[in-house]
Amino acid sequence: MHIRQFDLRRDLQIVLQFQHEIYERNFPGFKVTQKFLNDFARQLRAADRSPAERLWVLEIAGQVRGFVWGALITSMVDEFVGYIKNIYVAPELRGQGHGRRLLETAEEWFRTEGAPKATLDASMCNQQALSLYIKAGYHGERLRMEKSLNEQFGRGIDYDRRDTTQRESRPAGQNPGSERPGR
Ligand SMILES: CC(C)(COP(=O)(O)OP(=O)(O)OC[C@H]1O[C@@H](n2cnc3c(N)ncnc32)[C@H](O)[C@@H]1OP(=O)(O)O)[C@@H](O)C(=O)NCCC(=O)NCCS
Repeated sequence: MHIRQFDLRRDLQIVLQFQHEIYERNFPGFKVTQKFLNDFARQLRAADRSPAERLWVLEIAGQVRGFVWGALITSMVDEFVGYIKNIYVAPELRGQGHGRRLLETAEEWFRTEGAPKATLDASMCNQQALSLYIKAGYHGERLRMEKSLNEQFGRGIDYDRRDTTQRESRPAGQNPGSERPGR
């Protein structure tokens, strides 16, 4: 088992495959579509070129079975912080500390880049991820609340049909801030 830096050419497809579970679990009602994956692939290519973003993969017996995506961002309150955009461990390997090790790899990079804090967004419905984050030392700062106003609410929107001209497209990691330009 080892954790190595993401290689766009070798690892893009498997990291895209992981997005089905990540997004459908964290955003109940959301369906990962080909268009979503194409957008996500574009973001991964951009991240690969950016000095403010870095990904690592978990490789076991030559197979990629997890990954973590970190970014250095400027948020509304912090000029310079680390942000975990995405983390994943394959189902058969969960509960063995791989998630924790991936998280620590990204945190170590944030630290060496001079970021005083690591941040992330979490879904309240994802108990495994919440447990991982809390055990790793994260605590809640803000809580996004919602209330159903009609029957339609909560069924999710059709990603392929939505109007992306009005709102910011933010499929990767619900990033609350802007990425810091390369350091
Ligand atoms: C969240 C996730 C990355 C955790 O990975 P993991 O390798 O299982 O995590 P670890 O083994 O390092 O576990 C760390 C802690 O998480 C918690 N945890 C892990 N698996 C758990 C489970 N099945 N049930 C409850 N808590 C669990 C535990 O608190 C654990 O600490 P402990 O072993 O000391 O008790 C993994 O469940 C996953 O990939 N989920 C789907 C993708 C996702 O939702 N990602 C998060 C949003 S991007």
